[in-house]
Amino acid sequence: MSGLAGRFRELWDEIAPVGRDADSGGYLRYALTPPELRLREWFREQADLRGMPVSGDGNGNLFAWWGDPPTDGPNTDGPNTGGAVLTGSHFDSVPHGGAYDGPLGIVSAFLAVDELRAAGVTPVRPVVVAAFVEEEGARFGVPCLGSRLLTGEIDADRAAGLRDAAGVSFAEALGHRPAGADPALLGRFAAFVELHVEQGRALVDADAPVAVASAIWPHGRWRFELRGEGNHAGTTRMADRRDPMLTFAFTVLAANKEARLRGAHATVGRMSVEPNATNAIASTVTGWLDARAAEPDTLHGLVEAVQAKAAERARRDGTELTVTRESATPLVTFDGGLADRLAGLLAAPVLPTGAGHDAGVLAAHLPTAMLFVRNPTGVSHSPAEAATDDDCAAGVVALARVLEELACH
Ligand code: GLV
Ligand code: MN
Ligand code: MN
Repeated sequence: MSGLAGRFRELWDEIAPVGRDADSGGYLRYALTPPELRLREWFREQADLRGMPVSGDGNGNLFAWWGDPPTDGPNTDGPNTGGAVLTGSHFDSVPHGGAYDGPLGIVSAFLAVDELRAAGVTPVRPVVVAAFVEEEGARFGVPCLGSRLLTGEIDADRAAGLRDAAGVSFAEALGHRPAGADPALLGRFAAFVELHVEQGRALVDADAPVAVASAIWPHGRWRFELRGEGNHAGTTRMADRRDPMLTFAFTVLAANKEARLRGAHATVGRMSVEPNATNAIASTVTGWLDARAAEPDTLHGLVEAVQAKAAERARRDGTELTVTRESATPLVTFDGGLADRLAGLLAAPVLPTGAGHDAGVLAAHLPTAMLFVRNPTGVSHSPAEAATDDDCAAGVVALARVLEELACH
């Protein structure tokens, strides 16, 4: 193990127990809940240790500055507005998620700063480490909520009113109404580079520790609410039932089939049932469809087809269907010039991904790139997600080279 891999392990072990569920081995690090708040405190401690002042944006996102923190108004000096180079990721997890999705980008960013400093490199523009809030949307339903707020991609009032399963609003969890778009802060950044664990097997197949991202598939979340008639499981004749569970089951199968037909991805990984009793026909079933495809038209066709099939089945079952789009992320093509430059610099493969990231939101506002670190299991959003310390060290070296390239010349 290299010295850097050892330093990675040391820092990694500081956060490894935070929010870990002993039974599943996965993480419960929902945005603005105690484990995630502890990680945000750790972020401030790490920034402090490195003499990096931390600023917020009033939306729950944190920024640690190596170089001058923001003053009022966009920075206009120097080439490319003289802006800062932003890196980092998120701390929050999906339910029972893996350790690396998010935190790897933040830990690697602090270690990349250490590497540059140890090499005596001085940036000519600030390097900023970010921790974005609610990237997974696991608590308030909208993924990349922090970066959407910062960039104005979601209205601050809508975000403020999003509620978690216990009825707590995002504004309540944050302690105030989110500030919303901050063009002055965004104007301080010349580029964003997010390092992330790979969430599939492409790097295992390519036999490479690090890749550069080319694109993110367009994707979104749709809530299917199916209402029928709650009734007795023992006394209600089969012919008399209006059972939304049947419509739901058909919809899940239809989503799978329509996605396969198109080479797209459709998942129903979350549902709720009322009244949720073994001996009662459900009155309401709600399921969330996550749909993704390489092309926007394919995604659109997929969702239309699933909705049409669900509606047709609802007619046959005597149930009612309401479909609500909860979030949508368009196709993201990362800055081609930047991706090619980084791929050349790192001699790394270039890959598209079906996973969403804050980098996908920021890409519409500033030159953005992503680095992926090999995941030997290829599994993510699960406790089985993995990365070796040596590959994480390779990720840190790659990120440090990228930061040097973008911020030090
Ligand atoms: C985030 O990880 C997503 O792709 O849903
Ligand atoms: Mn994720
Ligand atoms: Mn992530």
